[in-house]
Amino acid sequence: MHEYNSYWIKSTSSTDYPTLSQDINVDCLVIGGGITGITTAYLLQQEGLKTVLIEKDRICLGTTGHTTGKITSCHNLIYSHLIDSFGKQLAKQYADANQQAIRTITKLVNDNNIDCDFSIQPSYVYTTDKNNIARINKELVAALSLGLPVEFVDSTDLPFGIESGLRYHDQAQFHPRKYIIKLAELFINNGGAIYENTKAINLDPNTSQVTTKNNTITAKNIIIATHYPFYAKGHMYFAKMSPYTSYVTGIKGDSILKKGMYISCDHDTRSFRYVDSDEKLLLFGGQSHKTGQSEDELSNVEILQKYAQSLYTDVSIKYNWSTQDYITVDLVPYIGLLNNDYDNIYVGTGYGKWGMTNGTVAGLVIKDLITTGTSPYKDIYNPSRSFTLNSMKNIYADTINSSGEFITSRFKISKAHVENIRPAEGKTIKIDNKKIGVYRDTNNKLYMLNTTCPHMKCKVQWNEVEKTWDCPCHGSRFNYDGTFIDGPANKDLEKISIDDL
Ligand SMILES: Cc1cc2nc3c(=O)[nH]c(=O)nc-3n(C[C@H](O)[C@H](O)[C@H](O)COP(=O)(O)OP(=O)(O)OC[C@H]3O[C@@H](n4cnc5c(N)ncnc54)[C@H](O)[C@@H]3O)c2cc1C
Ligand code: FES
Repeated sequence: MHEYNSYWIKSTSSTDYPTLSQDINVDCLVIGGGITGITTAYLLQQEGLKTVLIEKDRICLGTTGHTTGKITSCHNLIYSHLIDSFGKQLAKQYADANQQAIRTITKLVNDNNIDCDFSIQPSYVYTTDKNNIARINKELVAALSLGLPVEFVDSTDLPFGIESGLRYHDQAQFHPRKYIIKLAELFINNGGAIYENTKAINLDPNTSQVTTKNNTITAKNIIIATHYPFYAKGHMYFAKMSPYTSYVTGIKGDSILKKGMYISCDHDTRSFRYVDSDEKLLLFGGQSHKTGQSEDELSNVEILQKYAQSLYTDVSIKYNWSTQDYITVDLVPYIGLLNNDYDNIYVGTGYGKWGMTNGTVAGLVIKDLITTGTSPYKDIYNPSRSFTLNSMKNIYADTINSSGEFITSRFKISKAHVENIRPAEGKTIKIDNKKIGVYRDTNNKLYMLNTTCPHMKCKVQWNEVEKTWDCPCHGSRFNYDGTFIDGPANKDLEKISIDDL
């Protein structure tokens, strides 16, 4: 029996930090407890700055709890793109930053004996398509010119032949939750504090204060590490990056690939990595699509499962999960000052599915900016850098399926409308030509929602794999009961009263 759950979350205990219950005044406030937040908080506290981290849920249950956990500078074919778009000097900042992130994680693991299934591994990008050989060749020249530890290969340990590929040496992999949970403990031991179930609701840049449900935090520096920046007033991060969902399937069996990390540069991207933990698994990743824009999320899982079973016939499927990450218009994350209006509000976001290194880079860059006023990598990651207007127009075009106002009081909902919805199933139903989102839980309790996204009024879509409502425009995601999870909406979906059913 396989599970729709992340192996990383399944194999670790939940954390249990307290909720904030008083007003506080600190040097640095970090908002968000994924790899960006915990790394940044740890590094700032190490510098002797009084640092507090708040997390709206429990730490490391967000994107970092659903990653594949490759720690690598091999970000598909990014270096030829970076040299073409930014020139060699800025491209080298990206390469150097990611290599430093690998060294930083390695040192933290070794110095602190962090038990997180860490191992040094080669990382490959490959093609099985003759048409992509020239792209691989170009990438080799680009990556070598930036000093990356890379070489050409024409064969690998994958259970099929390749046309060509690149091998990056001395890259790494780990169990992301084991690493983050321990780094959080080290942060606390150094004098930091973590408050869970403490959501940042508002930020006032003029007073440098963040409010939670019951308290106010005053901070000299505020670091927004909430995946999509929970506060970005007037700076339209939703128009500068797009959310992409992709899927992971974990298989078990004697014959599975046991070393190396792989990604293909072909049309249907495929990713592989072995997990040498309490369970031995091979993770397959792929089937990426814009969040909320898949007809049927379950079919993506099935395609990955069939692919895994076509390569290894004697294996069992153990895990399936999915999550989303933001990809910026020029493929480079936004790390540094949120905008040029304030000199003490920082952000790290838009990692394009390479957040283990880039999230660590965020910690390094933001720590340096706060403590020294500069960073060797600040220019390439600068969130205020110029970006292509055409790319921005494309993202705006995605918002066209927005719809008009929705007035719930006009509906008459009867049992007949929902009788076809089975337990653990969600559906959009139409009543009086208006769309209503319905979810029936395993105890037969019904949740009904206005499917209009609070951000810019697109219609959210049901995601059968994650049991979430996902917005196709800028990727806001909501729980089955409408509670906001991630994205620019930053508000719950409107609930529809069903007392009369
Ligand atoms: C399928 C998939 C596989 C991937 N595999 C890899 C990989 O192998 N290697 C790699 O480098 N990258 C990978 N990535 C990318 C990587 O996982 C992400 O870039 C990274 O985890 C993002 O980390 P984060 O800390 O920015 O966000 P998150 O981990 O999402 O953390 C943000 C936190 O902020 C909290 N939060 C949000 N709003 C508030 C608020 N208002 N107040 C308080 N807290 C708040 C959230 O609850 C959450 O805990 C993958 C991505 C996907 C989609
Ligand atoms: S309309 Fe922008 S996230 Fe939904």
